[in-house]
Amino acid sequence: MFIVKKYSSIFVSLVMLILLLSGCAEKILNAKGNPNKSEVTSEVPPDTNNINDQNQNNVEQAEQPVENTPDENSKPQEHEAPAEKNHDGIQVVFNPESIPVLVNKQNKLPDNYNPTDLVYTEIPFVSGVTNEKRKMRKEAAVAVNQLFAGAKAEGISLLGVSAYRSHATQTTLFNYYVNRDGYEKARTYSALPGTSEHETGLSIDVTGGNGKCAAENCFGGTKEAIWLEQHAAEYGFIIRYPKGKESITGYQYEPWHLRYVGKEIALEIMNKGITLEEYYNEV
Ligand code: DAL
Ligand code: ZN
Repeated sequence: MFIVKKYSSIFVSLVMLILLLSGCAEKILNAKGNPNKSEVTSEVPPDTNNINDQNQNNVEQAEQPVENTPDENSKPQEHEAPAEKNHDGIQVVFNPESIPVLVNKQNKLPDNYNPTDLVYTEIPFVSGVTNEKRKMRKEAAVAVNQLFAGAKAEGISLLGVSAYRSHATQTTLFNYYVNRDGYEKARTYSALPGTSEHETGLSIDVTGGNGKCAAENCFGGTKEAIWLEQHAAEYGFIIRYPKGKESITGYQYEPWHLRYVGKEIALEIMNKGITLEEYYNEV
């Protein structure tokens, strides 16, 4: 009886041990399976991304037939289009913000170009000048302040006439001259909108302290005009439309029109007696 009892208790123990071990094995198996389950859970956002991807694909697919229509294909491709020239053969400058930028009858500013660093100059102007025309780009404004101060120190009194002009202002001005003198004549002294240096914020028309001869031929030969010819370059300015260079600049002599290009270039241009166009042909 004792032996039966003993063997039955060993049997029960064995059964319990087997049951215990199988329970552990299931737990171990479940434990291994959980990471996989949690990975699946973490893949839910990519599913959302997939939905977005599909939507994007749908949009692209929907656009493709439109891009392939004959009308679209007959349009010049961007790389073929003469993007830098308009129908007059005038090039659009690629560097309008550059201080020595060349803007003339062959090189215009991009449409809607507005200098971003315009500031008020600190110089006196002839009466009735709008606020807009009293501004220049920062570097040019600092330089013109110094030029006026330098002139004053040498007994030369100057007044500003017209500095920055927006595209709209230049348009109004050019149209006024065309109405007054006709298109061909106007073009000898006034720039087509988009081709005026005044729109760069780097140019200024000046006159003598008495305010007479403002942007008029009688300014030529005055002591102020002579001083400017001799000293403007020291401040980074050139007389942009010199006498005898009309065929190069395309404009009549304008002793009053100063253009800021920076001291180094200004000194080279004035010392050589050349124009900005000739400077660019040399370099
Ligand atoms: N007078 C110069 C050429 C201008 O209109 O910009
Ligand atoms: Zn001018």
